[in-house]
Amino acid sequence: MSNYWQSFVEQNKNSWHFDPSVKSEDFTYTGRLKTDFKPLLDLMSDDKNFKEHIATQQIKGHGAELSERIKAINEWGFNDHNTKSLQIMDSEFPEIFEPYKKFAGFGDCKVVVLKQYPGQFIPWHQDLYFGFKEEFNVPDDVKITRYSLFLQDWQWGHFFSAGNCIMHQWKQGDIIELEPKIHHATCNAGMVPKLTMTITGTITDESIERKKSKVFTH
Ligand SMILES: [Fe+2]
Repeated sequence: MSNYWQSFVEQNKNSWHFDPSVKSEDFTYTGRLKTDFKPLLDLMSDDKNFKEHIATQQIKGHGAELSERIKAINEWGFNDHNTKSLQIMDSEFPEIFEPYKKFAGFGDCKVVVLKQYPGQFIPWHQDLYFGFKEEFNVPDDVKITRYSLFLQDWQWGHFFSAGNCIMHQWKQGDIIELEPKIHHATCNAGMVPKLTMTITGTITDESIERKKSKVFTH
């Protein structure tokens, strides 16, 4: 435990049960994207196309709330090695990322792909969208969401854990969404790299409409 988690629980005790024994549904299945994944997976097969991200280290320009979280991640026992992931942003390869930026019908949109080797974690955290809000100058009254998309069929030892739920056995293109403030974590305790994507965007009438059928194409 840490001050970070204790104060989060204290501030949010009326909005979630905070009981690990409850069988609650803490993620929503949003649907599945059907597209040609090959150009992106080819790009992701070469580690030279990625930048390293380390969750135990401070990101320049991010606020005090994130500093508390990073302090906690270090206190919990994580280190630079086991919180490393490889990332590519859509702005680096706009053509390859275009389908992923367009399919959801978001207003402002940012896509990031993630490669986690065995032994690597994204520790327990909530999404605050600090970087996204700053980059796109999003006003406080505009709603933001994040789609988490799985780029390959599920492999043994790969996990996505959100609130009291564990997600596994996903298929390529499957998308899930979390309610704001639901803490989550991912890890690769398996044998092959884990390839995922986040699509963060401002919610529009179009994005709400496109989600209704749970099938996305591009
Ligand atoms: Fe997250």
